[in-house]
Amino acid sequence: MSRAATNLQIDSARLWGSIHETAQFGATAKGGVRRLTLSSEDKQVRDWFRQACEDAGLEVHTDALGSQFGLRKGRDMSKPPVGIGSHLDTQPTGGKYDGILGTLGALEVIRTLNDAGVETEAPICVVNWTNEEGSRFAPAMMASAAYVGDFTTDDILSRKDAEGTTVGQALDSIGYRGDKPVGFQKLGCFVELHIEQGPILEAEGKTIGVVDSGQGVLWYDGKISGFESHAGSTPMPLRRDALATLSEIVLAMESIAKKLGPNAVGTIGEAVIANPSRNVIPGEIAFTMDCRSADGAIMDALDRDLRAAIAEIAARRKVEVKIDLVWRKPPTHFDPKLISAVENAAKTLGYSSRRITSGAGHDACNLNTIMPAAMVFVPCKDGISHNELEDATQPDCTAGTNVLMHTVLAIAGVAS
Ligand code: GLV
Ligand code: MN
Ligand code: MN
Repeated sequence: MSRAATNLQIDSARLWGSIHETAQFGATAKGGVRRLTLSSEDKQVRDWFRQACEDAGLEVHTDALGSQFGLRKGRDMSKPPVGIGSHLDTQPTGGKYDGILGTLGALEVIRTLNDAGVETEAPICVVNWTNEEGSRFAPAMMASAAYVGDFTTDDILSRKDAEGTTVGQALDSIGYRGDKPVGFQKLGCFVELHIEQGPILEAEGKTIGVVDSGQGVLWYDGKISGFESHAGSTPMPLRRDALATLSEIVLAMESIAKKLGPNAVGTIGEAVIANPSRNVIPGEIAFTMDCRSADGAIMDALDRDLRAAIAEIAARRKVEVKIDLVWRKPPTHFDPKLISAVENAAKTLGYSSRRITSGAGHDACNLNTIMPAAMVFVPCKDGISHNELEDATQPDCTAGTNVLMHTVLAIAGVAS
């Protein structure tokens, strides 16, 4: 590598400026971001991102699911591009860094290479994947899942949000149904920078997480059918209360995940009572379940034990509980060569690091099923994420982006 490329550092102030400039699109009063996928706020940040990519000289294309690809040419265009990026959508009460750091960090890498006049052998492609979060449309990471062939494009286009709007309609409403078929942009590998979203790096005082694995995910949709009746006149033993049933399921999930832990987690994050009223015993509840583990056998045990517990609770309470497994993502084991490339970049740059498992799902986990992939983590404050309080420091975000850039230079090769 040339001396200029070896010593290259990203522009920390410019990266920080981009993160905070785009945080205005969907900014919340508490300092977070609400930018649900394919919303008008998502359109605003997509427009900003497309313009920034074009200004950086990238050839920008959008695929049929709205994912944006910005290509920087390499000296040898017969080589597949090195993919870098993440997502710009957020949770309903999300933060300024989840996904955003990895996408704008990727843009910053391109800007830095441009300023330094560094040409790489292989091309580099910056990507903003549609709907990583999965809070408006399930499953999470749906566009990268379609990219790797887990779902057809038509299947994903027909997925509906809670209002009944399909992905296809939502794409059309913001003008982001692209003209390129999903998978048009071939990638040779993918590297994603992200905040850790957990407490380990901060607690250990480490700057870089070299992500070697990711938890598998089980997502379920559930429906409890009990019986609505009068809150004053229905004796306790005669009730078929959907909310009391759900409460037992929540506690059963908690104890099953604890029993199978430390390598297992379970969450009921959504529950909607049909026709709620203070003086009506809840008769019907729709809810979701999210269970995770980095160990496939523990995922199977979570599924088995949960189903058994739910069947027992439903029978005893004389209610019907339906559980649909809507998504199963096996654990991820990232590519050993790319993991080493991330580790070497951190070491060469003088940052402290440790290997780490990702608790969250990421587009890189999907891409890893068809190409080598890896991830770079940086600490976030108190391990908090999926929360408006999510925070990360400028030096850590800068360090992570430098590691991303030097990993890319090592993989893509610098043209001499
Ligand atoms: C994505 O943010 C997930 O891990 O659910
Ligand atoms: Mn994310
Ligand atoms: Mn997220």
